[in-house]
Amino acid sequence: MRDLTDGTITEAVVSTVRDAKDPRLGAILEALVRHVHDFVRETGLTEEEWARGVDFLTRTGQQCTPTRQEFILLSDVLGVTMLVDALGNRRAAGSTQNSVLGPFFRDDRPALPDGADISEGLPGTPLFFEGLVTDVHGKPVADAQVDVWHSDADGHYDVDVPGLADPAMRALLRTGGDGGFRFRSIRPAAYPIPDDGPVGELMRATGRSVMRPAHLHLRITAPGFQRVTTMLFPSDDAYLDRDPVFGVKQSLVADYSGHPAGTGPYGTATDEPYTLLRHTFVLEPGRSAHDPLRS
Ligand code: BEZ
Ligand code: FE
Repeated sequence: MRDLTDGTITEAVVSTVRDAKDPRLGAILEALVRHVHDFVRETGLTEEEWARGVDFLTRTGQQCTPTRQEFILLSDVLGVTMLVDALGNRRAAGSTQNSVLGPFFRDDRPALPDGADISEGLPGTPLFFEGLVTDVHGKPVADAQVDVWHSDADGHYDVDVPGLADPAMRALLRTGGDGGFRFRSIRPAAYPIPDDGPVGELMRATGRSVMRPAHLHLRITAPGFQRVTTMLFPSDDAYLDRDPVFGVKQSLVADYSGHPAGTGPYGTATDEPYTLLRHTFVLEPGRSAHDPLRS
C-alpha cells in the first residue's frame, strides 16, 4: 500500500475495513468510504473546503450537551432521520405513520387520568383532544400508553417557559376499554428549531425556513403492536410545506376545528372559543423497533 493515487486509494482503504469482525460493520464502513470518496471526487473538494467542513463538524459536536443534540438536529435537517425511519418502519396505507421524536420528549412526564387538563393553567386557546387507538381491523386497543407533549401558544415547550418548574403540556395517558383517551390543553403554535448553532448557520446559508409547523406530539405503545411516534399538524398552518425536519405527512394533517365558547366535549365548560381535535390512531402488529434517537 504505497504510492497510492486518487485512482487507487479508495480500494486500498476499503480493503482495510471490509473484513471487520462484525460483517454488518464491514459493509457499512465500505459503503461509507466509497460514498465519501465519491463525494470528494464529484465536488472536487478543495483543501479549504475540507477544512471548513471539519470545522463545521467540530463545532456541531461542541454544541452538544446532555439536553442539546446538534448532530441529530443535523440529521433531521438533512432528511436522514426521516429516511432511516421510513426504511425501518414501513407502514401500510391506513396505519398511523411515524414522524420525528424531536428533542422535547421527557421521561419524567406525569401519568394523568383520562380527560385531564395538561396545560397547568398556561394561557392559550383551549384545546380538547379525543383520541381512539385501534388495530388494523378497527378493533379498539385497550390499555395502550399514550405520551403527549407539545408547545405553548408562543411555541415554547415547558422547559423553555421561564418560571415553570413542573412539567406542563405533557402527560402519559392510557386508553380505556373502548380504546379511547382524552385530554384538555392549549393549542400549540409553530416554532423555530434550535438555530443558534452550526445547524442554524447551515439553514441561513441555504435560505431555508427554521419554522416547524404547529403540532402535537404523540407516542403510542401497546404490547403486540409496533410503537408509533407521531405528530398531528393543523391543516391551516403556513409552514406545512417547508418543515425543516421533513416530518409532515398528509395523513398527519388534521382538522383542528374552531368552536364558540360554551360547553366543550365531555361536558367541560369553557368561556372562550376552543379547538377540538379528534383522531384515530391505527397500530400495526409487531414489536416496537429500536427507540428512535432524540434530537
Ligand atoms: C420537534 O418537533 O420537537 C422537533 C423535531 C426535530 C427538531 C427540532 C424540534
Ligand atoms: Fe415539537
